[in-house]
Amino acid sequence: MALKKFNIIVAVSNDMGIGLNGDLPWRLRKDMKQFSLLTSKSTVNGKNNAVVMGRRTWDSIPEKFRPLPNRVNVVLSRTLSDPPPGADYLCGSLDKAMALLSDEPLNNQIDLIWIIGGSEVYKEAMMSPLCHQVYITRVSSHVQCDAFFPNIDKLKYKQISLSDIDGKEQEERGIKFRYEVYQQINN
Ligand SMILES: NC(=O)c1ccc[n+]([C@@H]2O[C@H](COP(=O)([O-])OP(=O)(O)OC[C@H]3O[C@@H](n4cnc5c(N)ncnc54)[C@H](OP(=O)(O)O)[C@@H]3O)[C@@H](O)[C@H]2O)c1
Repeated sequence: MALKKFNIIVAVSNDMGIGLNGDLPWRLRKDMKQFSLLTSKSTVNGKNNAVVMGRRTWDSIPEKFRPLPNRVNVVLSRTLSDPPPGADYLCGSLDKAMALLSDEPLNNQIDLIWIIGGSEVYKEAMMSPLCHQVYITRVSSHVQCDAFFPNIDKLKYKQISLSDIDGKEQEERGIKFRYEVYQQINN
């Protein structure tokens, strides 16, 4: 079985912060829309994408928005024995999740795989040879955070331009942000 690759998507502060008290440190509707669009948009007719997340990120999604629609929701946990209500699958490790999504029958039903957090999962995912692209929203803010994204190793990842990603600075309710995409070199 050939393991599928995955992409990472994250919004980070100036200090690489991603969360505070189990929630996002900001509310950026445009960015949430972009997140939904990118993670939902399959490149193959009839296939859905999958989102893989840590148990605390699942908990952080308001119940009415769970599971994330039109996507296969995979939750990682070492303590749960069943998927949390609403989630599609529970896996005990990132490797097991990638094996599940790369093997029959899901491999034929799933197009893109998105790692959507949080910090522990991002850290492991950034080190993985299966990581293809990293979609980052750079939020221009020094807001307090207690969860962080790892520093990007520029020897391993290079910044790229994609025609469908506008890299210009944007602003919502006084918060400036812009999109960047990185790709793992030789991958
Ligand atoms: N800014 C962003 O883009 C973004 C995106 C996502 C999340 N966030 C924020 O990040 C915070 C949540 O992140 P977090 O770092 O606290 O938690 P997390 O990574 O979402 O979840 C951690 C939990 O996931 C499970 N887990 C993690 N890695 C695993 C692995 N390799 N194998 C099996 N299980 C694994 C464990 O669950 P058990 O304890 O059940 O064993 C662990 O306690 C929240 O504040 C959230 O809002 C921000």
